[in-house]
Amino acid sequence: MIFIDACFGKETPYTPVWMMRQAGRYLPEYMEVRKRVGSFLDMTRDPEVVKEVTIQPIDILDVDAAILFSDILNLPMEMGLPLRFEKGVGPVFDKTVSTEEDIDNLDSKADEKLRYVYEGVRLIRKNLPSNKALIGFAGSPCTIATYMVEGRGSKQYAKIKKLLYTNPMMLHRLLSFNTKETIEYLKKQIEAGADAVMIFDSWGGALEKEKFFEFSWNYMKEIAKEIKSLYPHIPVIGFSKGVGLYMDGMDGEFDVIGVDWNTPIEYALNIFKNRYTLQGNLEPTRLYSKSAIKEGVEKIASVMKGNRHIFNLGHGILPDVPVENAKYFVKLVKEVTSIK
Ligand code: CP3
Repeated sequence: MIFIDACFGKETPYTPVWMMRQAGRYLPEYMEVRKRVGSFLDMTRDPEVVKEVTIQPIDILDVDAAILFSDILNLPMEMGLPLRFEKGVGPVFDKTVSTEEDIDNLDSKADEKLRYVYEGVRLIRKNLPSNKALIGFAGSPCTIATYMVEGRGSKQYAKIKKLLYTNPMMLHRLLSFNTKETIEYLKKQIEAGADAVMIFDSWGGALEKEKFFEFSWNYMKEIAKEIKSLYPHIPVIGFSKGVGLYMDGMDGEFDVIGVDWNTPIEYALNIFKNRYTLQGNLEPTRLYSKSAIKEGVEKIASVMKGNRHIFNLGHGILPDVPVENAKYFVKLVKEVTSIK
């Protein structure tokens, strides 16, 4: 699998490419399934649907990796916090974690309740072409803790930051719980057939530098270390958003580091050299224009030529991007980066 080779820094015939949120609302085929099933959450709980939707972008765009169709919030949901998606708001937990007792009450068997995910992974791997990789994933302990404490997306993160500065030990206790569950969750995804795993940390950059390492990155490192000790052949991808200026302190047993679109990739390359494969980082809204795609792809390709790289967007694809442009992006990456 060219994607896995690139994760380990082996030479590949071209730079492999996939897109965050590649199975999503910009695809009419996805919208059809969503209409049939009714809701996003119900889609994630039906292994047949998970399989169908995960494979759509492989068939339609010919990307080099499929990413499990699910959400980072299924895990806290199965810890006993009912989840709903509210139109115009996004994910909402009506029950949140605000006391030590709330942590005591979280279900430490959440990983066992996510059988629909593992069954989905098994079905995907059975149906995916053998040269395409399947990426499993989880949210970072800190990002899911943020939702568990705040209850919903937030601009100020006031509740979790108040906890961080007034009762750091309690937050560490919650993060340790999340870390343990996440390790079990990822292990089970790997046992079911995931070829690589990725940890999504969307809010790392909302913390000041020393707190980012203490409360977010260190727990991601712990997950990577445990997974690598058990499965050295499975690449681990770490992706924190908004942390470009913290990169000089980022280490750990990752194979790949995701680079968001705010961080110039030459900056990340200069820091990491070829210690990790870098994944990213086309500005997602460039997908609105073919000439913007071409300019962006050529720039990134020229910086990363001869270096460890997986092409991706710097964050998820947006719902109103023309499918034709997404196809153009994938085809162009392969052309521009081909060893001729
Ligand atoms: O990249 C992938 O396609 C893998 C699957 C994946 C999804 N969400 C699917 C999804 C992953 C890895 C995520 C991550 C995620 N989900 C994060 C962390 C990192 C990031 O990318 O920002 C967060 C904070 C969430 C929580 C969440 N789920 C939000 C904020 C939303 C958007 C809600 C909205 O109203 O738009 C979701 C929904 C969601 N997750 C969709 C998909 C494809 C859209 C589903 C739909 O409306 O049909």
